[in-house]
Amino acid sequence: MSFAGRHVVLGVSGGIACYKSCTLARRLTEDGAVVDVVLTASAAEFVRPVTFEALTGRPVLTSLWEPDRALAHIGLAKQPDLAILAPATANVLARAAMGMADDLLTALLLARSGPVLAAPAMNDAMYAHPATRANLKTLAARGWQFIGPEIGPLAEGPSDRPGRMSEPDTILAAAARLLVTGGGGRLAGKTVVVTAGPTREHLDPVRVLTNPSSGRMGYALAAAAYARGAEVLLVTGPTELPLPLGVTAHRVETTAEMQRAVQALVKKAHVLIMAAAPADYRPATSAATKRPRRNGTLTLELEATPDILATLEHPRPGVVVGFALETGGDGVAKARQKLQDKALDFVVLNDALEPGAGFEVATNRVTIIGKAGAAIELPLLSKRDVAEKILDAVERALT
Ligand code: CTP
Repeated sequence: MSFAGRHVVLGVSGGIACYKSCTLARRLTEDGAVVDVVLTASAAEFVRPVTFEALTGRPVLTSLWEPDRALAHIGLAKQPDLAILAPATANVLARAAMGMADDLLTALLLARSGPVLAAPAMNDAMYAHPATRANLKTLAARGWQFIGPEIGPLAEGPSDRPGRMSEPDTILAAAARLLVTGGGGRLAGKTVVVTAGPTREHLDPVRVLTNPSSGRMGYALAAAAYARGAEVLLVTGPTELPLPLGVTAHRVETTAEMQRAVQALVKKAHVLIMAAAPADYRPATSAATKRPRRNGTLTLELEATPDILATLEHPRPGVVVGFALETGGDGVAKARQKLQDKALDFVVLNDALEPGAGFEVATNRVTIIGKAGAAIELPLLSKRDVAEKILDAVERALT
């Protein structure tokens, strides 16, 4: 989405993640937003105001006491469509939660009633501290939205706990969604697990059994569900596609790995959409070293991989959607059989042999079949539009 015509105030508090706020200011400006940057005194120690002025083409505010700008915080609290706080340090979150207004940024936040998106960034122990947890809870109850923090290297070294600020693109995706949905969205509060792509089963370290699934349908579903306000957990096999912004990705290789990931994630999910094309067979034995080429034929013994949908444990998500990839005339009957066998709410039928449908293309022609029997036959559409239609059906089933 474009930020054209949108007015954004970017509050920057003092943490090393300030360097990412420069990219954020730049991207917002390039996307058409009018960006007013407000720095705390410690943020100005990390990045000089002149840097943000050059990036946004606008004056930067740092103090309540600047001449002629006495009420700047009131204007900046009211006018912008969105306030982004990035980085949001433990200190600024604490001051905002307390309702303090001891500098320009906190005064602005206190005067603001419109949407605020905060990207926490701090030492992992500070993020885990009960004081910070309580402050985040207080601010969330007041309508603040949060993005991150993520697990990753911190200024003080590697960490396996959250603390690192989300990347600018992730913050932008969350900001764009907040502007569109106003913090709501038809799937707000819902967790959606989407699977995508093929899986790979190794014959030996350099040879695999797989299929040509591109992952496009699943990725389109993940992006569309995120845009509708959902928390999206994407379980993806190997694909070349860039991850949709805002979704949490779990990368897997084999069908058994995909099964484990799905089973763990669906426990807290409202919806599961199995758009992946998991390999149905794997070699009965996988060689630890490369199998040498020999003259003559090679016979492989294959064993079935687990059927992820058919073996889904209870409790299951409220709505479960499967796909049926068929290659022959009686596709509807086969799809209905899968719907029944795998206890699905919907099955999305597509014909791999039809031009413009199936693997490796940007379009799809599908029929959505519900468990009540109703079938919606769709024309040839982009996978993004197919994703929207599938989510429309999911939403109707959730209500
Ligand atoms: N699926 C699954 N686990 C597998 C294989 C497929 O959960 N090991 C899911 C797919 O993600 C899809 C649905 O089951 O949502 C149907 O997949 P499809 O390949 O059409 O059918 P299969 O069940 O594999 O049966 P067949 O290959 O005989 O058509």
